[in-house]
Amino acid sequence: MNATAELRTLFQLLRGRPQRGSHAQSLKAFYAPQAHSYDAFREQLLHGRQALVERLDPPRNARVVELGCGTGRNIEFFGDRIGTLASVELVDLCTPLLDQARARAARWPSVVSVVEADAERYRPAHPVDCVYLSYSLSMTANWRKTICNAVRMLRPGGTLGVVDFFVSEATPPPGEARHSWISRQFWPRWFAHDGVHLTPEHRRVLGDCTDTLHLEQHTAPVPWLPLLRVPYYLYIGRKRRN
Ligand SMILES: C[S@@+](CC[C@H](N)C(=O)[O-])C[C@H]1O[C@@H](n2cnc3c(N)ncnc32)[C@H](O)[C@@H]1O
Repeated sequence: MNATAELRTLFQLLRGRPQRGSHAQSLKAFYAPQAHSYDAFREQLLHGRQALVERLDPPRNARVVELGCGTGRNIEFFGDRIGTLASVELVDLCTPLLDQARARAARWPSVVSVVEADAERYRPAHPVDCVYLSYSLSMTANWRKTICNAVRMLRPGGTLGVVDFFVSEATPPPGEARHSWISRQFWPRWFAHDGVHLTPEHRRVLGDCTDTLHLEQHTAPVPWLPLLRVPYYLYIGRKRRN
C-alpha cells in the first residue's frame, strides 16, 4: 500500500463514520471509499487476528461462522485447514466489503459462503462448532445482543472467539491489564467517531455467557501514530453444555 493510499485511509478514520441512515447504510458510507485498500491498512492496525484463528483450532468437519467478516481476510489464516472444514459462513452487513469477501471466498466454493446479514440476528441453518468475531463486536450497534446471538448459534461445547480493542476497568480482576485513567478516557473517545465502542464490559459478559478457555490482553502500535499503542484482547470461551 503506498503512502498516499495509507494517508487517505487514515484521514477517513479520523473523519469518522457518518451517523446518517441505518446501521448498514452508515457502514457502507464509511467503508466504500476504503474497500480496496482495507486489507493493507488493517494489516497494521488489527492485531491478533491470526492468533485468534489459530487458537480457535476448529476440529475436522467443523461448521464455522465469522460475524462481521469484512473482506474475509481472516479465512486465509486457516491455511490448508480450510479444506478440512465442513463450512465457513462469512457474515457482514456492509456491501462494499462483502464484494471483496465474495471474490476471496470464490477460492473455496464448496466450503466458504458469504452472507449479507446482521450479526445481532443472523441464524445459520444448523448449530455450529465455532463462531468468531474479529474487531466487529465493538462495531455492532448492540454488542450484548451480538454476543447472545453468537452463543445461541453454537452447539453445546462449541467455541466462541473474539479479538477486539478494549479498555480495562479502573480496578480490573486480578491478573488482568489495568489501563491508566488517560487511556480509559482517550481510546473510547478516539474510536467513538468511527462507531467503534470500547468497553471493559465485553470481557465480563463473554465470561458470563461462556466458560473462559483463554484470555490475553496486549497493546499494539497504530499506523502513522508512533507514540500510541492501542489495547486489544483475545478471548476464547466454550458454550456450556447445560
Ligand atoms: C473493523 S471491521 C473488521 C472486519 C474483519 N472481521 C477483519 O478482521 O478484518 C468490522 C466489521 O464489522 C462489520 N459490522 C459492523 N456491524 C455489523 C453488524 N451489525 N452485522 C454484521 N457486520 C457488522 C462491519 O461492516 C465491518 O466489516
